Amino acid sequence: MTGQALPDQHGLTTRQAVPSDRAAILSFVERSYQRIARWRVPDRWDWQFAQNPFRASPDVLPVFLALDSAGRIVGQSCVMLVPMQLLGRSHTAGWGCDLFVAPEWRGRGVARRLQASVHAATEVHLSLNMAAETRHLKLELGDALLDPIPVYELTVRYEASAIRQVLEQRFSALRAGYLMSGTSKLLAAIASTSAGWKQSRRGRHPDPSIRLLEGKEFGREHDELWSRVAGSFRSAIERRTPYLDWKYLRQPHLTYRILEAWRGEVLAGFVVFRTSRAPEAACGRIVDVVADPRDQEAVAALIVRAVNSLLEEGCPRVRVATSVSAFAAVFERVGFRRVEEMTAVVGKGEASAEVVKATEGGWLLGMGDGDWDQFPAPG
Ligand SMILES: CC(C)(COP(=O)(O)OP(=O)(O)OC[C@H]1O[C@@H](n2cnc3c(N)ncnc32)[C@H](O)[C@@H]1OP(=O)(O)O)[C@@H](O)C(=O)NCCC(=O)NCCS
Repeated sequence: MTGQALPDQHGLTTRQAVPSDRAAILSFVERSYQRIARWRVPDRWDWQFAQNPFRASPDVLPVFLALDSAGRIVGQSCVMLVPMQLLGRSHTAGWGCDLFVAPEWRGRGVARRLQASVHAATEVHLSLNMAAETRHLKLELGDALLDPIPVYELTVRYEASAIRQVLEQRFSALRAGYLMSGTSKLLAAIASTSAGWKQSRRGRHPDPSIRLLEGKEFGREHDELWSRVAGSFRSAIERRTPYLDWKYLRQPHLTYRILEAWRGEVLAGFVVFRTSRAPEAACGRIVDVVADPRDQEAVAALIVRAVNSLLEEGCPRVRVATSVSAFAAVFERVGFRRVEEMTAVVGKGEASAEVVKATEGGWLLGMGDGDWDQFPAPG
């Protein structure tokens, strides 16, 4: 990545940020994101951009700025750099994130210029679940849409309060005030008994030769596992220690748990998961599944134990997203239902459409990819 300065007819310049821009960027983020800014700066920002281990040089940040004629920041677009394998080759890819243009500058092509700078400087550009304007800009710049990534949910017990909320939205306040209390309790009871997850699956262990252990750190065995399974995916963020350690153990505001499946002395797979906390809605999230997709026993053992763990901690539902059909099959088998999907876009210059074709059905993507699982996460 390199810096660039391009003045235009509004006196605007765009360039890549350098470490001395930090204070001005943090103040732009605080003004822009207001109530949620405290989750974005300074801890997450330092972790995600300034301390990102995959930067080619410490002299520039993976942040692109638009500045007015007085040198004030009026827009930004960032990339979260990650190591990626794509059709057998390694790249540094960038997840697009934190595109923001100051309201008084919108509609004048600032976002378009920022996106063009990001694309010019990033080998492979990736995006998940972007705003309609952003998607429009990315497709215009030559990016291509991947198959949508299904999001699954397992709902075990509906909180009476959540049902009340839904009813409140549907009925007039007066009428609902009279009907609600009894109706919501009844619905909650029906939902609890019909789910049946706890009774049917707690403690069940699909394969007795698999030992499940709580992991505390990533290391040699995880790298060996990745070397064995990487070939199952045509495209993936490389799940080796430098990435896993940074992404799951050093990310601020979130505490992830690691659950590992061992066969003897060999690590067969692991999942990364977490519980929510306010202001997030009550929900458990399985953000990563790393295993040979053909090893359905290991995948099932991991998922069942992770779900049980989340339920025991009081999560009324568990969410997961996966682009891997073999993982999705296990989720469906144990009772997860498809509830929505994430949009995914890839950009590799003029080769974007070819990349989509050549990698079809072969991506490893989930909730832990991109900056989808930042605190507080939606859903
Ligand atoms: C989204 C945002 C960055 C756009 O910035 P901007 O500088 O006004 O955008 P630009 O002027 O460069 O161009 C926007 C393009 O998107 C188009 N667009 C606007 N709304 C759109 C919509 N709902 N669907 C599709 N395209 C849309 C515009 O028409 C324009 O394209 P055109 O020139 O071909 O007509 C800005 O509105 C913003 O900061 N919003 C709040 C934060 C946010 O939503 N960020 C995106 C996170 S993914």
